Amino acid sequence: MTVKDAIGVMRAPDHLVFGVGQRKAVADYVAALGRSALLVTDERMAADPEFGKMRSAILAQGVAIDVFAGVEPELPVACVKEAAKAGKAVDVVVGIGGGSCLDAAKCTALLAQHGGSPSDYYGEYKVPGPIHPVIAVPTTAGTGSEVTPVAVVDDPERALKVGISSPYLIPAVAICDPELTLSCPPGLTAASGADALTHAIEAFTALRRPADDRLSVDHVFVGKNTFSDMHALEAIRLIGGHLVRAVENGSDLEARTQVMLGSTLAGLAFGAAGTAAAHAIQYPVGALTHTAHGLGVATLLPYVMNWNQPACGDTYVAVGRALGVSGSCTPDAAIAAVADLFDRIGIPKTLAELGVSADSQAEVVRLSLSVERLIKNNPRPLDEKGMVELVGDALQGRRTRHAIEERAE
Ligand SMILES: NC(=O)c1ccc[n+]([C@@H]2O[C@H](COP(=O)([O-])OP(=O)(O)OC[C@H]3O[C@@H](n4cnc5c(N)ncnc54)[C@H](O)[C@@H]3O)[C@@H](O)[C@H]2O)c1
Ligand SMILES: [Fe+2]
Repeated sequence: MTVKDAIGVMRAPDHLVFGVGQRKAVADYVAALGRSALLVTDERMAADPEFGKMRSAILAQGVAIDVFAGVEPELPVACVKEAAKAGKAVDVVVGIGGGSCLDAAKCTALLAQHGGSPSDYYGEYKVPGPIHPVIAVPTTAGTGSEVTPVAVVDDPERALKVGISSPYLIPAVAICDPELTLSCPPGLTAASGADALTHAIEAFTALRRPADDRLSVDHVFVGKNTFSDMHALEAIRLIGGHLVRAVENGSDLEARTQVMLGSTLAGLAFGAAGTAAAHAIQYPVGALTHTAHGLGVATLLPYVMNWNQPACGDTYVAVGRALGVSGSCTPDAAIAAVADLFDRIGIPKTLAELGVSADSQAEVVRLSLSVERLIKNNPRPLDEKGMVELVGDALQGRRTRHAIEERAE
């Protein structure tokens, strides 16, 4: 890398606290930010004794509390509108739960501050200024939403899920306590951990943009850069080394801790660099199959890596090494290591297995290409022809053959 390329962008909460037991500090952070708080969560978490303890600790600090426990998975926009009504009168919004609850808290704090409807802010840089302070307490590992500048909602008026991207959405405080993930069942652990690994790999392999002095001002997601590389590579190492253990034995606190650290670092990486084709194609795949976000991106990732391989040789070798590939690591060995890890945790092997029919291929291609902000971040330029090949591969499970054909072109 040349000195000119050594550009780094890092955006993060004011306070990022990580570690077993750290949830007990939540009340102090809430009290430091205001006298009234809205806790945004879902029904499951609201009934969890740990939620009750955090609630009591916040009350004991003299902070008035309202609870919105109506968040649903994948965040239908109606939940956000409901939560926003409760959020108007409070000083601070606390999101406790998976990515859906954290994204709901971010949107609630946005609407509480600036009014309007979520659709007013879809896209990049539509948020006009700071929002109510958000404290994010994740219970999955994970989306990384506790540190990222984006919230994703499911709006029935749009064909695909939509994002609100703005540095103002980054929570003021993130408290990541691995003990809160101990209750995640194996399927959720696998899907959310695979999402985190996909964030790290897509950030690490994202297009590196030419270094210009407007890069960090004109783009929420700036592409591969010096800081995102550090976070992404460590995330790949941590998640790669511990995710299978966390799925196989949910009470393995060491594995849970390393996977959660990895998912937060992956959030720091992609929160600046952005993600790419696997996340773009997941938008229509999620809309068609109604499967979890993490399952879709992970099903896609080995095919995306395969298709991108001609643009990513050395980068993939670094990914493979971080995943523990021994001996002389090749790009193919790195892709095989990712695919093998996902096989071991039960990620579907093809889009067909995930529930996408061959008849939908043209629609998936068209809608994926419409997610321009992610397509332009892909390390190998993706046009319609390329997308047809890539989606065809992922539907039919053609991994290796396509890589050989691509190199021979
Ligand atoms: N904002 C971002 O940066 C970002 C990044 C990636 C994904 N996302 C979004 O996040 C959402 C997915 O989040 P997720 O994967 O964390 O799942 P989720 O929040 O949708 O939750 C899925 C299910 O898991 C349950 N759950 C959560 N924590 C649990 C625990 N500790 N024990 C038992 N059950 C638990 C929830 O109650 C829910 O039923 C999607 O909407 C996706 O688009 C956001
Ligand atoms: Fe994701």
